[in-house]
Amino acid sequence: MPITWNEEKKLFNVTTKNATYQMKVDSYNHLIHTYYGSQIDDTDMYTQISFADRGFSANPYEAGKMDRTYSLDVLPQEYSCYGTGDFRITGLRVKESTGNQTVALKYVKHAFFDGFHKINGLPSVHGTSPSTSLCITMKDDVNGLVVELWYGILEETDVITRTVKLINRGNAQLIIEKAASMNLDFTYGEFDWITLHGRHAMERNVERRAISHGISSIGSVRGTSSHHYNPFTILCEKETTETNGSCYGFSFMYSGEFLIEVEKDQMAQTRMIMGIHPDNFSWILDPDQTLELPMVIMSYSANGLGKLSQNYHKTIKENVIRGNWKNKRRPVLINNWEATYFDFTGDKLVEIAKEAQSLGIELFVLDDGWFGKRDDDNSGLGDWYPNEKKLGCTLKELGNRIVEQNILFGLWLEPEAINEDSDLYRAHPDWVIKAPGRMPALGRNQLLLDFSRDDVCDYIIEVISQLLTEVPISYIKWDMNRSMCDKFSNNLDAAHQGEFAHRFILGLYHVLETLTTRFPDVLFEGCSGGGGRYDCGMLYYTPQIWLSDNTDAINRLSIQYGSSLGYPVATMGAHVSAIPNHQTGRSTSLSTRGTVAMAGTFGYELDVTKLTEEEKVEVKKQIKTFQKYYDLIQNGVYYRLTSADDICTVWEIVAENKSEALISAVYHGVEANPIPIYVKIQGLDEKKQYEISYLNADCTKQIMSGIALKNAGINIKGATTEFESYQIYIREI
Ligand code: GLA
Repeated sequence: MPITWNEEKKLFNVTTKNATYQMKVDSYNHLIHTYYGSQIDDTDMYTQISFADRGFSANPYEAGKMDRTYSLDVLPQEYSCYGTGDFRITGLRVKESTGNQTVALKYVKHAFFDGFHKINGLPSVHGTSPSTSLCITMKDDVNGLVVELWYGILEETDVITRTVKLINRGNAQLIIEKAASMNLDFTYGEFDWITLHGRHAMERNVERRAISHGISSIGSVRGTSSHHYNPFTILCEKETTETNGSCYGFSFMYSGEFLIEVEKDQMAQTRMIMGIHPDNFSWILDPDQTLELPMVIMSYSANGLGKLSQNYHKTIKENVIRGNWKNKRRPVLINNWEATYFDFTGDKLVEIAKEAQSLGIELFVLDDGWFGKRDDDNSGLGDWYPNEKKLGCTLKELGNRIVEQNILFGLWLEPEAINEDSDLYRAHPDWVIKAPGRMPALGRNQLLLDFSRDDVCDYIIEVISQLLTEVPISYIKWDMNRSMCDKFSNNLDAAHQGEFAHRFILGLYHVLETLTTRFPDVLFEGCSGGGGRYDCGMLYYTPQIWLSDNTDAINRLSIQYGSSLGYPVATMGAHVSAIPNHQTGRSTSLSTRGTVAMAGTFGYELDVTKLTEEEKVEVKKQIKTFQKYYDLIQNGVYYRLTSADDICTVWEIVAENKSEALISAVYHGVEANPIPIYVKIQGLDEKKQYEISYLNADCTKQIMSGIALKNAGINIKGATTEFESYQIYIREI
């Protein structure tokens, strides 16, 4: 049984294929977190908690008189509260009308439900397989706050989902100052913490550090999940590698401001807290009102980081992404941004689309600059009607001209943004996010629309619906190009301003939910200046996200490597662009640019009309290769064989049935008399024989056994020029 309750022991056991998560209601009705790790049975792990009088660690009143060894300051708790003797980072802080912020939760009851728990207005994990959800109800008897802790599981991928619902069952208003979606306590273990940090055009660099005494945190106060810290993180044991050791993943299914805190306490215990960032947050709950918090997707691997990533890849592909495009083959696209930027005519676009189609490209995406007065990035945002002077025709006519080339038509939008120099701003200056009496900070010379307002959301839904109804559009790139500041809504009174940043995200999700439901055949690709909102929240609505504005093949190796820790290649927008690269000035071969972009949704972002005949032949070949191995690349099991910092970055995608694999190897440099690079190939059948062939280099085919590939490995052909890359195909014979 995946989730059980033992009445006698007062023990919850949540079991997935390889893991157990255990909680206990103790004699004071506190919910204690007793274990998370490799599978055990329902042995009560509470018995292993050491109780001693920890000086200066407070004792709850009911325990204190009799038992000084009982302290919430050191006990592992399922959901920690502020002010009642736990001096560590805590998950819940609530202000009462008196100003008091102390809150204490006790177990009341629990119930099991069939199926996956759905959160109103927020994304959540879903599935078709039968599943059970657990809801544990906790209550503060003094102020009447009820807290429901919800758990769900995906057995195969060792996933446990968590979310929290707050209900004010008291008689007075409560202000929620901090409400985490997850609190996780470990009573022992020396952990490393792996985080993904970055910046615009250089997202998701991997950092691994030891958790030491004190508090560390990452998060975002930018209105989005951000380029700067990703809401996916890993705790792992010190010795954990790609293939060995225990690790725990945490993915916050939310696209707004978040905080992840880690603390090692006086007893060398580790606590992690994940939730909406409390800095800009304070939510008023009047009696009987409810607040539902975003979901956390936890997973566990006892076999290293590689397996943990695979758990997330599968979960995201099967249980996060929804809709018609979940399993549908995604088109190879061409985007005109790096080909033309703002400088194009309708004829030029048709020319690119025509040439692209002749090369085998299936979708033409018209990026920024097609609307309003938009000849650079200083004006026009908000005016989602075509610049007919520039296009030489209506958008519908342009769409038809493109589609007549036998290629699909896609469109760029930045619906949350507005320029002051736009008709929309002139008509609705009150719709923008702006602090009263102050000039707003600009980002890319633009402002943001107040998506916490229903009228703004309704307007955007109608404008986009009209475009999607009138123009033959198969794809939308949903961009968002600045961080949010001057956070204030004209629509909220002073007391409710602390709800603004979260209400913005609720508005965004409402708009996306409406549009994706209304237009299920349209493929939505997320984007926020590349990967500034690359999270499981957005992936619920947009099955692929433009991974980075950086299209340099070598920089992409580390961006894709870091992203692969928590996200599958099937979600990573990746394009071949021109050289010298527009972001770095680096030149790499077309072959290498193709190899790297094929670890993603694959497309092109250059002026194909300027390609030489030789390059056109190569592009055609790349597209055929990608299409031939599409199922393997998008649905196979992904392994990182070397790191992004090694001289040769190597990754592998293996078919689930072990019949074939594609190895990609990219050299960062070249040396005279090169040292051979060996990699051990994972995931194949040890007992079978395989044929190994290079797809983009002359090399004699070789035959090797699965066991030799696994334990001895292959020697990758050496680089003869800088940034050389190889695609090596292995198939069962
Ligand atoms: C963002 C996107 C780019 C492009 C530009 C257009 O930076 O990430 O891909 O669409 O906007 O302005």
